This record gives sequence, structure tokens and C-alpha cells, in this order.
Amino acid sequence: MLVDNAQEIAPETLAEVRGAFPILGQKIGDHPLVYLDNAATTQKPLAVIDAVTRYYREDNANIHRGVHALSQRATSAYEDARAAVARFIGAPDTRQIVFTRGTTEAVNLVAWSFARPRLKKGDVILLTEMEHHANIVPWQLVAEATGARVVPAPVTDAGEVDMDAFRKLLEREPVALAAFVYISNSLGTVNPVETMLAAARAAGVPTLVDAAQAVSQRPVDVAALDCDFLAFSGHKLFGPTGIGVLYGKQAHLEAMPPYQGGGDMIANVSFAGTTFKGPPERFEAGTPHIAGVVGLGAAVEWFEAQPRERLWAHEDALVRRATEGLAGIDGVRIVGTAREKASVVSFLLADAHPHDIGTFLDAEGIAIRAGHHCCQPLMTRYGITGTARASFSIYNTMEEADRLVTAVRRVARFFS
Ligand SMILES: Cc1ncc(COP(=O)(O)O)c(C=O)c1O
Repeated sequence: MLVDNAQEIAPETLAEVRGAFPILGQKIGDHPLVYLDNAATTQKPLAVIDAVTRYYREDNANIHRGVHALSQRATSAYEDARAAVARFIGAPDTRQIVFTRGTTEAVNLVAWSFARPRLKKGDVILLTEMEHHANIVPWQLVAEATGARVVPAPVTDAGEVDMDAFRKLLEREPVALAAFVYISNSLGTVNPVETMLAAARAAGVPTLVDAAQAVSQRPVDVAALDCDFLAFSGHKLFGPTGIGVLYGKQAHLEAMPPYQGGGDMIANVSFAGTTFKGPPERFEAGTPHIAGVVGLGAAVEWFEAQPRERLWAHEDALVRRATEGLAGIDGVRIVGTAREKASVVSFLLADAHPHDIGTFLDAEGIAIRAGHHCCQPLMTRYGITGTARASFSIYNTMEEADRLVTAVRRVARFFS
């Protein structure tokens, strides 16, 4: 497919962005690396790698407790990163940013600290069929503990949330909380989260948005969204692994009990009883992933400095190019044809197992993912066990999209 000129990014801009990622220049065997597994994790720009290295070389110390210079510098770096994240997602107050290990831990925190004390037998936790296991299993665990039920809103054949069904569930079921993904990691569907949030608000239902994929794909503004909670992971936003964010409305966070106990989250400890700090410290027990937070802050600052709108348009053009190229191959079926899509092309190829497709492509230096993408209920919905998934990021090129298509054509010939 020819890409609109308006969507073509200047080659020097793309080269500059790409040049920021040292890992991308390497070869896999004789082939240049084509990294198309960005929905699993994005690569890291030098700015992030340098920030983490600099932190360990120059500032490393434990935070919040020390009076010495290094501890104060480490504490400032940690809290500056919190401020950067708050600004990045439009949170009114830095205290609304809780650092977690990732999206998974953020959802667990809300499930156990916010939902569990409120849930009664028979209450419904409303999800969608396209959720990642990270936004299913914590709710199942808390439902088991409380007698609540997890009910998924269905998705259509195209991979969109059935909004009529979603609204009806909100109207007819005793929904205590709704949690849904902004951008699907397995289909690339961009959900109408504003509409979903408005429907939940109208029903008086608190909400959690899984923004794991969205933060690198779309502007995310929690104040505009007016969600109760939002979760994401640093490693899908050009930052380090093992660090993530829970945003919550201040009143909720203030009212929530601690999720884990330990150092740094207490006001006073005695064997007669312990009192706790307010949010966010209340939810950050023990020595946190300080270097990860510093790296995440650097990632956010690096990303904010990029021409994001143009890069997203470029990425959308990559997805369209790959989708059209793959759809033209005999035996290919695209899984997920929503009107609004970002980053991801999931596909099947006749009788070829997705893992075989992934292995063939790897032999050509092309990294994709094969399997259920931690979305087994969604795969079951489509009567499949998994897909081959190419997922793009801002640094991928049209040539890489074309190399994917050419390589899949070769795989198709092999299996025909
Ligand atoms: C949509 C979505 N939600 C949640 C997660 C879980 O993220 P993490 O493993 O970083 O906690 C992922 C990771 O693939 C994801 O894509």
C-alpha cells in the first residue's frame, strides 16, 4: 500500500530516532535485526541506558532515609522521576503516582487494596474478552476471596468491544468495578475508552484502565480521561523492566489500606500497632527499584522530546502497510480488524503453527511473537490457540515492514 505523503516521516527524523537505540544496529546471523516484538517490550534509547548507568556510577544510595549527599541525590532523582511521570500522564498531583513493578502489580494493588474491601458476594467485576491475563487473573483471585464474579463484555469478530453489550452489563448487573484495556496487545484494537469510561461513570462504577500498550501509542491524560485508576509498565515505554506505575484518584489512594508492609511505608511502628504514611509511600514498601524509576523518568523525558504525533502517524502507516502486504498472501488471515488499531498485526497462516512462523522469521533476523500473548480467553473466543504477532514501534521503518511481508511470503511458499 502506498502511504499518504502526509504520513511519511522525514527520513532524517526517523534516522535520528532510530539512532538513539543502540541495539537496533546489530545483526542476527547474517541479517540485520528487524525488531517487531515491541508489544512485548520496547527497546531502550541511549538516554535511558545512560541515566541508569549514571545513577549507579554517581548517585547510588538508598532513598528517603539518608542524610548524606548520595542519598539525597538518589532521593531527588527518584522523586523527580515521579514528577516527570505525573506530568507525562496529566496527573494533577505527584502523590497520585505509585511506583510498582509493572502493570501486573498495579492491577493487583487495586484488586486487593481498593476492590477487596468493597466487594460483596454477587458483585460483578466487569472486564472485556480482550484483556491481558494481568487484567483478568488478579480479579479472579479477588473474586474468589469475596464471592464476586468476573464478567467479560464480549468482543466482535473484528476485535472491537461490543459496546451495546458493555452498556447493558453496566445497566443490568451489580457492577462494582470496570477494568479494561486501552489498546489490545494481541489485536492492536484501540478501544473507545472515553466512551467506556463515560458509561461506567454514568453507572457510578469505578474504573481501571490498562494503559500498558497505550502510553507509547497515544497521548494519555488521566485528568481528561477521568478514570479512577490507570496502570502501565516502564518497559513498554522505552524504560527499564521491573518498574511500572499506578495512577489513582487521590481520594481513593488516601482511603486504601497498605498492599504490602515493610520499611519506608510507615509513619510509626510499635508492637502495639503501626501507623502508615499517606500515598504514594504507603504503597511502596521496602527499597524500591530506584534505578528503574530513574530510567523510567529518563524514558518519559526522552519520549516527550520526540515528535510523537508524527511518529505515531508513521507507526500507523507501518501497521497498514504490513497488514495490507500480509493480507495479500495466500492463506494469511489477519486476526483483529478493528476500525481503530495501533502497532499490532496478528495473523495466522494456513496450517503453519505460529511458533513455526516465528522460528522461520527469526532465521531471517525478524523478531516477532507467537502464541496466545497472555490473552487465552480471547484466543478461545476466536477458536484458536494463538497467533503470530508483529508489533511496531516509532523506530521501525517501511523497509522493515516490507521485509516482514517478504519473509512471510517465503514461509507461505514453504508450507504450501
Ligand atoms: C495490555 C497489557 N496489559 C498488561 C500487561 C502486563 O504488563 P507487565 O508484564 O509489564 O506487568 C501487558 C504486557 O504484555 C499488556 O500488553
